[in-house]
Amino acid sequence: MAKYQDFTCVKVEIDEEGITWVTFNRPEKRNAMNPTLHFEMLEIMTALENDNDCKVIVLTGAGNSWSAGMDLKEYFRETENNPDLGFRATMAHRYWATYVTNWSKKPTIAMVNGYCFGGAFHSLAHCDIVVSADEATYGLSEVNWGIIPGGNVAKVFNNLVNHRDALFYAMTGRTFDGQKAVEMGVANISVPLAQLKEETIKICRELMEKSPMVLAYTKQCVRAVQGMDMTESFEYLGAKALALRTVDPRKTRATGMEEFLDKKTYRPGLQAVKKTS
Ligand code: COA
Repeated sequence: MAKYQDFTCVKVEIDEEGITWVTFNRPEKRNAMNPTLHFEMLEIMTALENDNDCKVIVLTGAGNSWSAGMDLKEYFRETENNPDLGFRATMAHRYWATYVTNWSKKPTIAMVNGYCFGGAFHSLAHCDIVVSADEATYGLSEVNWGIIPGGNVAKVFNNLVNHRDALFYAMTGRTFDGQKAVEMGVANISVPLAQLKEETIKICRELMEKSPMVLAYTKQCVRAVQGMDMTESFEYLGAKALALRTVDPRKTRATGMEEFLDKKTYRPGLQAVKKTS
């Protein structure tokens, strides 16, 4: 669509189903994230939030890399004497890869097609679902070139995997593949690269069958309760559940109950209630 054509480091395509392919597009640099990429991603992710054509967001990479992490030249070296640019890039990254991706109404999927190193774990961790190619190569390479897994990489990696693995992979810098990423909790599913797009589309279609509002509330609830104690989460989820009944334009709850209990036309254990209007 013409509306997302003006970007140099990211490509955006919304297909006829509403699947939105957001592609890190610096294949010659293995999609390393420079300041421009962060500024563009912040603009894109923010704009997609209220773009009705966009139903699901898929983050992927051009060429043989998902992302080789932060750009050592443009993000690190060249901002050393330009603290203004450094600060802006850091904040843009923090906003798009944490807050916007985390709290977006839209489901977000990382489709990892190749290399995923260092700083790339940040956005990966904040996507809702990760679909990996078996052939993908993941690694916390920071230790190999003299920095810590900063920018919250140590934190988000610790949240995904067990503490032993977090220490092991951060300290050795060893790489792991897609199957191992699933075993460790970094990815949900890993398939051969040749099936990666097809598998991702299948998941997108499954998500798009649900009410978008129910899906948005569901992902936000699962994220929010992580930091709450039992009493807080009882109260929070109670209030959210009530709010959802009011804001869901499809009235999914009422329709679902009617179709299951009265009409006996579907089983919620096995499928989403069909859109009625
Ligand atoms: N930052 C800046 N440039 C990067 C980069 C990064 N993170 N990763 C790759 N590039 C650039 C290379 O400098 C090279 O540029 P050039 O053609 O101008 O010399 C180009 O991308 C291709 O890289 P190359 O190393 O030749 O590709 P490869 O396919 O042999 O290896 C990687 C790919 C990803 C294994 C390797 O580039 C690498 O180790 N990158 C660094 C990964 C990293 O440590 N990231 C953590 C950052 S927080």
